[in-house]
Amino acid sequence: MQTNYTGVVSVTIPLVRRLRGQGHGTLVLFSSVAAERPRRSNFVYGSSKAGADAFYQGLADSLAGSGVDVVVVRPGFVRTKMTEGLEPAPLSTTPEAVAEAVARALRRGDGTVWVPPALRFVMAGVRHLPRPVFRRLDF
Ligand SMILES: NC(=O)c1ccc[n+]([C@@H]2O[C@H](COP(=O)([O-])OP(=O)(O)OC[C@H]3O[C@@H](n4cnc5c(N)ncnc54)[C@H](OP(=O)(O)O)[C@@H]3O)[C@@H](O)[C@H]2O)c1
Repeated sequence: MQTNYTGVVSVTIPLVRRLRGQGHGTLVLFSSVAAERPRRSNFVYGSSKAGADAFYQGLADSLAGSGVDVVVVRPGFVRTKMTEGLEPAPLSTTPEAVAEAVARALRRGDGTVWVPPALRFVMAGVRHLPRPVFRRLDF
C-alpha cells in the first residue's frame, strides 16, 4: 500500500507542481487490470492499484487544459520478475509490448492504455459481472 498508493501520490504531487509551472509534460502511471476489479487472489495489490488509478483519473481531469497530460497504463499479466514462477494468465504479455503501447499512447495522446488492447473489452465485461458470478471464477 505504501509503495503502490502512498508512494505514487507523494511522488506525483511535487511532479505536478513542476510540470504545471513549466506548462507541459506527461505523467505515466503503471496501474493494472487489477485496479478495474480486484480479484480475491490478490485484492490487497488490486486495492492499492485501484487507489492509484483513481487518483490519476481525477488528476487527469484536474489537469485538463493545463498542458500537462496523464496516461494510465493498465497491463494484464506481464512476464517480469514480479510474476516469476506464476502460471501466465490468458492474454499474458511482455515488458517490450507494454513499452511499445506506452510509446504509442504518448505519440497519440491517449489517456488510458490497456495491454494487450483486448483487455479493455474483457474487463468491461468482468467489471459488470454480478458478484455471485464473479465469485465463481477461479482466479
Ligand atoms: N508484471 C505484471 O503482471 C504487472 C501487471 C500489471 C501492472 N504491473 C505493474 O507494473 C509495474 C512494474 O512491475 P514489473 O512487473 O516490471 O515488476 P518488477 O520487474 O518486479 O519490477 C518492479 C520494480 O519496482 C521496484 N520495487 C519493488 N518494491 C519496491 C519498493 N518497496 N520501493 C521501491 N521500489 C520497489 C523493484 O526494484 P528492485 O529491482 O530493486 O527490487 C523493480 O525495479 C508495477 O507498478 C506493477 O504493479 C505489473
